[in-house]
Amino acid sequence: MSSSEYYQPELETISRSELQQLQLERARKTIATALNAPFYKEKYGKLGLSADSLRSLDDLKKFPFTTKQDLRDHYPYGLVATDRRNLVRLHSSSGTTGNPTVIFHTKNDLDCWANRVARSLYMVGLRDTDVFQNTSGYGMFTGGLGIQYGAEKLGALTVPAAAGNSLRQIKFIMDFGTTAIHAIPSYAVRLAEAFREQGIDPAHDTKLTTFIIGAEPHTEEQRRRIEELFNIKAYNCFGMSEMSGPGVAFECKEQNGLHIWEDSYIVEIIDPKTLEPVPDGEFGEMVLTTLDREGMPLVRYRTRDITRIIPGPCPCGRTHRRLDRFRGRSDDMFIVKGVNIYPMQIEKILMEFPQLGGNYLITVDTVGSNDEIFIDAELDDLFTDDYTVIQALNKEITRKLKDEILVTPRVRLVDKRTIPQSEGKAVRLVDKRKKF
Ligand code: COA
Ligand code: AMP
Ligand code: ZN
Repeated sequence: MSSSEYYQPELETISRSELQQLQLERARKTIATALNAPFYKEKYGKLGLSADSLRSLDDLKKFPFTTKQDLRDHYPYGLVATDRRNLVRLHSSSGTTGNPTVIFHTKNDLDCWANRVARSLYMVGLRDTDVFQNTSGYGMFTGGLGIQYGAEKLGALTVPAAAGNSLRQIKFIMDFGTTAIHAIPSYAVRLAEAFREQGIDPAHDTKLTTFIIGAEPHTEEQRRRIEELFNIKAYNCFGMSEMSGPGVAFECKEQNGLHIWEDSYIVEIIDPKTLEPVPDGEFGEMVLTTLDREGMPLVRYRTRDITRIIPGPCPCGRTHRRLDRFRGRSDDMFIVKGVNIYPMQIEKILMEFPQLGGNYLITVDTVGSNDEIFIDAELDDLFTDDYTVIQALNKEITRKLKDEILVTPRVRLVDKRTIPQSEGKAVRLVDKRKKF
């Protein structure tokens, strides 16, 4: 494909009725494929569900939700719907304390994903003349390889810089004339500061025009700040590993919500308590069904992300509906430095240390321009007051926590009864991050 072929008006501006017909055909195929996976075979078998049960999109409601717990319970291969020889890559969530979530891809799955990313990048004006730098972690983080292959498809000159080392990022930006960057919003702010530390004004002294920001919740004010700091346009990108990765939904140049690519996903918004659909335009938990995945299709997957469908058409002419900014989660997952963390992961590690008393508090805060995670943990009464021993213990706890959550926490070991006891359910997480 030439880069201009990544604008696909026949799919992007397709009429709603044609889109729904396409979705129905693809959803039937998805159900038929899913039935090859032991998990779905058993689940749908018991309920007598098959592709024939899906006569209209409305029939999708007959199918039970799929949850993260299902993925964990059937780890590692229980949701794989194809012969193992057809699988060419997996992406896995972090954590060693329980079963991680793993997603398997065939060649075709990776191709569909890359096309979706290329389409999204094209939508915001990127072309094969761009120099595209990706600051996401490669390896298991889908923001690395996922964005990489999409940008390559588009024909951009890619700079797979990966996460970290801001001085090196800056050198690449300056030397290669980087025009576009993929970064999580909090890192974009850190990068601007690193530029200033080098005496370079990122708003005037670079060739940057476009930022793709996503992977963590952020506000409109944060986006505008990033745009001002770099004198660029920043576009919101949503994705999640279970849905392949970035490029599930993406803002167009109107910057008024994220078009969810409905030829690849069926979107539903439900009340996370009643599990019933919420009226159009209201906030609720997003539920997604994959429409073009063959290695590991997911049907009615509860994302736990809270958003809403923005009513009305977009002036850009695309008919795929728009998601509002994400408002949080219906579970206790939080994201620091682009990494997903569950408090339970931290608790499990802390509980491995008999030297600790059991009470702890996680605080996420912005220090300078970095988001940091602080973990205060109370020492047991009987433990030593030898500073050297406590230091060594701190180091060991920090290392174990870093292995588990993939970011380095700042651990503070404190005396028993130092952390205020909350009334009722213990408050374990305080988020003090600057929201701009
Ligand atoms: N992306 C890119 N770089 C990041 C980053 C992010 N999300 N978060 C922090 N960094 C940078 C820091 O600025 C620092 O570089 P600098 O001091 O030269 O400016 C460097 O990474 C190390 O950060 P630090 O906070 O000391 O390390 P950590 O051990 O707590 O975290 C990371 C390690 C940053 C490598 C890890 O959190 C990571 O891989 N994050 C990226 C996750 C990602 O790609 N998510 C996207 C999924 S779509
Ligand atoms: P991962 O599976 O590691 O890619 O993380 C996916 C999660 O990151 C999603 O379920 C969201 O909670 C969060 N996320 C991704 N993109 C965005 C975005 N643009 N805005 C807010 N949250 C996001
Ligand atoms: Zn639009």
